[in-house]
Amino acid sequence: MTHIRAPRGTIDVFPEKPGVWQRLEETVRSVCRNAGYTEIRTPIFEHTELFQRGVGESTDIVEKEMYTFLDKGERSITLRPEGTAPVVRAYLEHKMWALPQPVKVYYIGPMFRYERPQMGRLRQHTQFGVEALGASSPALDAEVISVLISVYQRLGLEGFVVRLNSIGCSKCRPRYKESLMNLLSKHTDELCADCRRRLERNPLRVLDCKNERCAGLAKKLPPIFDYLCEDCSRHFEGVTECLTALDLIYELDPTIVRGLDYYTKTVFEVIHSGLGAQDALGGGGRYDGLAEELGGSAIPGVGFAAGIERAVQVLQDAEGGAIGQEAGRVNVFIAAMGDEAKLQALRLARLLREQGTSADIDYLDRSLRAQMKYADKQGVKKVVIIGEDELKGDYAVVRDMATGDQAQVQFRDLVQVLT
Ligand code: HAM
Repeated sequence: MTHIRAPRGTIDVFPEKPGVWQRLEETVRSVCRNAGYTEIRTPIFEHTELFQRGVGESTDIVEKEMYTFLDKGERSITLRPEGTAPVVRAYLEHKMWALPQPVKVYYIGPMFRYERPQMGRLRQHTQFGVEALGASSPALDAEVISVLISVYQRLGLEGFVVRLNSIGCSKCRPRYKESLMNLLSKHTDELCADCRRRLERNPLRVLDCKNERCAGLAKKLPPIFDYLCEDCSRHFEGVTECLTALDLIYELDPTIVRGLDYYTKTVFEVIHSGLGAQDALGGGGRYDGLAEELGGSAIPGVGFAAGIERAVQVLQDAEGGAIGQEAGRVNVFIAAMGDEAKLQALRLARLLREQGTSADIDYLDRSLRAQMKYADKQGVKKVVIIGEDELKGDYAVVRDMATGDQAQVQFRDLVQVLT
């Protein structure tokens, strides 16, 4: 029979990698907590309509990348391709507008997009992200950006660049779209098929199209800054002022428009050149119209999400793959010979674990020698040896694996000595 393999575009995280993943996740939790964000966990699947309305019908995600199916009750369900629309849905559903504002949450979890897999692009990837809802202050945009940068800085991840733009609001963007449409309609034959198709609904996407000819055209287009209304201009100035006050370095980049429809005003991406074609470590922005799009009142919001696999990639490249390896799995290994001794080992392991000391025993009926060898390979600090003599004498031999020192310890004192 053929082996069953993991589906294309998915990865298994192997034992040598969880160390990096855990360090990353712990850093995210710590940085977010310090900035007043609490964790939110939304479902892995949602009603398809949430993303159609939230992310936007004309986006790549909704047009062609969603894992959508009918459940047994004939409801259209979608595995979440991103976390912002679900968080806003939860905010509205649980009337979080009645809480003190802003409501600041963070999340870590898998997202699903049916994309063409390539380096750095998966069909199941993991994001960490934050969303801050209920305040429109530009200082909050800057805070969100600074949280993302702090995560990378705390991890020692270097060489990333923050790119910043504003894409205006429903007042000023239509004028910009119109002028792009007018300019681009003269060059439709130079556009790629995707951009030509999207020209009517979303000409801004030409600005960040990876196709060479589209990128060439994009360079000649006027930047959106010239079209922003007074409110958007003032907001953008506020964001840059706060970033400067925080000593955060960023580049203005009018080609950052993002691939999701909900953005208003601030948008940003964090890029790393070591990632190749899929060079975005993370991205986000403000989405002041999303809550209304989902049937709520006008609740402003801002946030980001960043790929964990991509951050792990950069960290491993930088540190030669040696980072975050988990040291010995447990502190204590109990090597036992004989049925009675094995029961004693089982009991002792449970007692130690309950007292907060990690402990393990042999489950393969290895010889004592083989158990010692195994314990050594696992990098444990202490081995407790229980054989027939020890059982008779109510003691065990405790061996310090670093020094080789051995001592007899009475059973009743073992837990105390080992914890
Ligand atoms: P996004 O730019 O679509 O934004 O995704 C955020 C990050 O997730 C990307 O920068 C990238 O690191 C990672 N990512 C996305 N797709 C893949 C993939 N196929 N394989 C591996 N990594 C991937 C959002 O999802 C928005 N919800 C961000 C946001 C939050 N905006 C406001 N709040």
